[in-house]
Amino acid sequence: MSLRVGICGCGAFARSFIPLFNAHPLVGEVVLADLIRERADEQAAKHGIQRVLGSLDELCESNVDAIVLLTQRQLHGPQVVQALRAGKHVYSAVPTGQTLDQIEAIIKAVEETRLIYQIGETSYYYPCTLYCRDRYRKGDFGDVFYGEAHYFHDMSHFYQSFQRSGGADWKQVAGIPPMHYPTHSVSMMVSVTGARVASVSCLGWRDRTDDGVFKPEANLWRNVFSNESALMEADDGSTFQINEFRRVGWRGKSSVQMSLYGTEGCYEENADSQLWCTIEPNEMERLDELLACRKLPISEAQADVNSVVLQEFHCGASRVHPVERLPREFVGLGNGHLGSHQFLADDFVRAAVTNHLPPNHAWAAARYCAPGLVAHQSSEQGGARLEVPDFGNPPEDWPLLAP
Ligand SMILES: NC(=O)c1ccc[n+]([C@@H]2O[C@H](COP(=O)([O-])OP(=O)(O)OC[C@H]3O[C@@H](n4cnc5c(N)ncnc54)[C@H](O)[C@@H]3O)[C@@H](O)[C@H]2O)c1
Repeated sequence: MSLRVGICGCGAFARSFIPLFNAHPLVGEVVLADLIRERADEQAAKHGIQRVLGSLDELCESNVDAIVLLTQRQLHGPQVVQALRAGKHVYSAVPTGQTLDQIEAIIKAVEETRLIYQIGETSYYYPCTLYCRDRYRKGDFGDVFYGEAHYFHDMSHFYQSFQRSGGADWKQVAGIPPMHYPTHSVSMMVSVTGARVASVSCLGWRDRTDDGVFKPEANLWRNVFSNESALMEADDGSTFQINEFRRVGWRGKSSVQMSLYGTEGCYEENADSQLWCTIEPNEMERLDELLACRKLPISEAQADVNSVVLQEFHCGASRVHPVERLPREFVGLGNGHLGSHQFLADDFVRAAVTNHLPPNHAWAAARYCAPGLVAHQSSEQGGARLEVPDFGNPPEDWPLLAP
């Protein structure tokens, strides 16, 4: 079977994904749609795409099998449900939704339609996350009892991107509570250990900059916090510290980072280094080279991979990325966010074609997002400890994609 994929939203982020869906061997046609028609027309011309529509509504009425939602961050929840109810498989950019009710509605729609939903969580395929998942599976951490993850992205980098689609009202969305965009950090913890965040306490930092973004009268959430720090307790007894900062004078190798501490071994990361250590002095390993994303010279190749494929495949991936599983048609195409884009696009297409659950399915997406939504509620209540609802697990009769 080949899939007809409609890409909804042809803004900045879509430019990375249109070529991937267009090249995937299991995709028969890509259709583009944007409310700002010129954006879709321009991308269609660039990539030789024949069909352009004007909106999500039109995509839902069309004959596409799947919709890739790359629309603004506050829109996803209801748009996902609309597309699922129209009978389409759905890939959604992060975050999952803006309320717990929206997350619940996504899960209900997936359960009732049995269509594929995938959250496009780039952190899932970051080199550090892949590395830690592998060591966790092998038992090298022992019991993980504590982890830290953060997403630091200063507002000064965001002005243009909010203004691009927000027009005169851009501040309404720019002031989104930091913890309403929590999936990059939270997913790093829970996608490694499999634990679910059960409760959270969070404090917010009242913004002091006079750009008028984090003002109660300025944004849709009446939010005043530009930085939020949460302590989360997972259902296996471990604790995660999650920081979401939007006003921060910091720069590191990646805006999203994690550290994970276990009784037997630890992964630790800071602005410019990544390492593995245990209690034994001679077991400390510096991982910067292993986890760096770059175009590798052929000599570093796995022997069983054709050299041309290898050279191109490794463009923008690290040595821990299982690039050999990707379609050869991706060779030479871009791969962004630390090697993650090609894996996310490939997961979704294979999941939709085979009706197997991708790793970042609706129940995982709920676990990545709900803790942040509740964390923001907690910060509004001065750090009150609040329970995070459990959205459960996928039905047992729904098989997972082979890794
Ligand atoms: N690492 C990551 O995972 C990562 C990185 C960047 C962006 N993102 C996410 O990607 C999404 C897109 O970001 P962006 O910077 O490209 O935004 P953007 O504002 O540049 O583009 C969004 C586009 O969606 C279109 N749109 C909105 N509603 C529509 C509808 N009903 N029908 C058709 N088109 C519609 C808008 O007109 C706009 O062109 C955001 O949700 C953002 O959070 C994720």
